[in-house]
Amino acid sequence: MLENANRYIEENASETDSSYRGEYHFTPQIGWINDPNGFTYYKGEYHIFYQYNPYGSTNAGAMYWGHATSKDLIRWTHLPVALAPDRSYDADGCWSGSAIVVGERLYLFYTGHYDRGGTRVQTQNMAYSDDGIHFTKYENNPVIGPEQLPEGTSAADFRDPFVWAQDGKYYILVGTMETGAAKVQLYESDDLFSWRYKSDFLRSTNAGYCWECPNFVDFGQTQLFAFSGVDFPASGDAFQNYDSAVYALGHADLASGTMETGPFYELDAGLDFYAEQILVHGGEKIMTAWMNMWGRSYVTSELGHGWSGSLILPRLLTVRDGKLLQQPVPAISAYYTDEVRVEDTLSGTREYEGVEGTSVRIKLTADMTSSEKFTVSVFCGGDVRTDITYDKRRGVVTFDRSESGIAIASDPREASRARLRSAQYELDGNVLTMEIFLDKSSVEVFFGEGELTMTSLSYNPAEASAIRFVSEGETVLRLEKQTIRVQQG
Ligand code: FRU
Repeated sequence: MLENANRYIEENASETDSSYRGEYHFTPQIGWINDPNGFTYYKGEYHIFYQYNPYGSTNAGAMYWGHATSKDLIRWTHLPVALAPDRSYDADGCWSGSAIVVGERLYLFYTGHYDRGGTRVQTQNMAYSDDGIHFTKYENNPVIGPEQLPEGTSAADFRDPFVWAQDGKYYILVGTMETGAAKVQLYESDDLFSWRYKSDFLRSTNAGYCWECPNFVDFGQTQLFAFSGVDFPASGDAFQNYDSAVYALGHADLASGTMETGPFYELDAGLDFYAEQILVHGGEKIMTAWMNMWGRSYVTSELGHGWSGSLILPRLLTVRDGKLLQQPVPAISAYYTDEVRVEDTLSGTREYEGVEGTSVRIKLTADMTSSEKFTVSVFCGGDVRTDITYDKRRGVVTFDRSESGIAIASDPREASRARLRSAQYELDGNVLTMEIFLDKSSVEVFFGEGELTMTSLSYNPAEASAIRFVSEGETVLRLEKQTIRVQQG
């Protein structure tokens, strides 16, 4: 199955339409991707794996693990597909999971999805590699099966192992549920092969029905727990998509297998961010995620472009004063060209010479002492535009793609209707700081020092490349714009 997939990709990849393919975001050569998996650093390179259907641009069919490497997290080289659904325990998909390097060996842990004749079972499995390209599935898979589930826990929704090493032991978190509660379970091992159920690490009622893609990261004073929650309940402006990527900070005690957390926050307040995965390497915590959302229409797929799905611009995570901060990885700046700087006192609407494009970065400060509302409209052309607005009176930032070129249909159950998201945001003094990354069909916005981010897709005609600045009242604006150009491998 692996060879067939690799041959198919090689023979057909040139047939795709790249109009909406990001310049500096990871996208598949052909076919459908969703979650990033197995994000790791091995033998001098970053490795990313991903949920992959090479044969079509929808998520129909059993998932493979696609694979790519990068030296800087920006420029990616595609490698042969790593895992195919070719065993009885993963016959309906090699679902999401993570990676760990021990000695010279790279280990992948993933969910085997089996769904036939009314029986649906998910198990945790392992594969390993000594060259980082070819993977062998462990002969005694599954390593965690239904017999290691406590009474009442679902074997049908038991997925996305997150593995790490700490204090001479190995741990895995797996997302699951029981009647009325979503939860994650902790497993423990001395050798990576044999696993014991340790505890229900975290559980919550009224918090959606399955916690997918758990992550656990130790920041020293505090620990971060993240997951992607199916049907996570909306609360005010937050969690308005049907599924939400969520985090909490707190204190974990691995000896007892428990964690006390503060409140749950959304990892990203945009429309298209899910299935986060966090890598700890050389003291840095780096996050990637699927830049998309379940239950939507998938534009490139519907247009017949032959591919669908991309990953976010990877982000560095830090915790300061009990707050999670997200910043784009600094390596992106090596790809900046054609810089333009502007200083202006703006009222009304303006465009600036050279400040345009569809694969660009804009860093700005807007002093709003004498203004009430400030908008950056991106992907503008004809009557098409996508707005990022700060409303000082309400202390609210809004991303709005209602006037974009192609409407994205939403899951009927979601409050955002897939068009607009808002978030509470207090200014530091009267000055708004934003860093905006546009890439053909995506908009990622980092506010302040990264205490709020908004990631969303927006599809527009190629000529919709103008960028407009709009002020109600007088805004003192300083900005720099760079074009971003990457030759993907
Ligand atoms: C999250 C998810 C995971 C699952 C994978 C299947 O987006 O639903 O829980 O392992 O996608 O492709």
